[in-house]
Amino acid sequence: MGKQARAIVDLSLKDLVKDLNKAYCDEWLAYYLYWYMAQIVSGRAYEDIREFLLKLAKDELEHATEIADLIIKLGDLPPANPMDLEKGANAPYLMPPKNTTDINRIIRIVAEAEAGAIEVYSKIAKKTLGKDHVTYQLVTHILSEEVEHEEIFENLLER
Ligand SMILES: [Fe+2]
Ligand SMILES: [Fe+2]
Repeated sequence: MGKQARAIVDLSLKDLVKDLNKAYCDEWLAYYLYWYMAQIVSGRAYEDIREFLLKLAKDELEHATEIADLIIKLGDLPPANPMDLEKGANAPYLMPPKNTTDINRIIRIVAEAEAGAIEVYSKIAKKTLGKDHVTYQLVTHILSEEVEHEEIFENLLER
């Protein structure tokens, strides 16, 4: 982002980059969690759940990529060390169930992670509305996908 692009960001850049870095860490934790649960899930109807988990994992990795791109444009860098991802995140890592056939637990974990993501992105959207159009546009786009993710898994739970 050039000088003028940064100058029109009408809020604290430092604060904004901090929020984006936390969201970036959240996305990696979600990516790993969903990808991992897709590998281990077993039991009845596990193939459908695996497919949904892999679709979400792919979206979360895309979100991490988009946020990294924005952090860099804003003149900062995302964490270099994966060891820093959990402590940099908004919420602790949700441990997958030990019982790999516990599909209801997997669904609840995803629903919880998505609810957290929705909260995080709504907060950033509110903060940036009318102040940083580029960030606002990205976070509302991500937010709409998180809303979709939550819905997919909430519907699975109701079956
Ligand atoms: Fe995400
Ligand atoms: Fe998501």
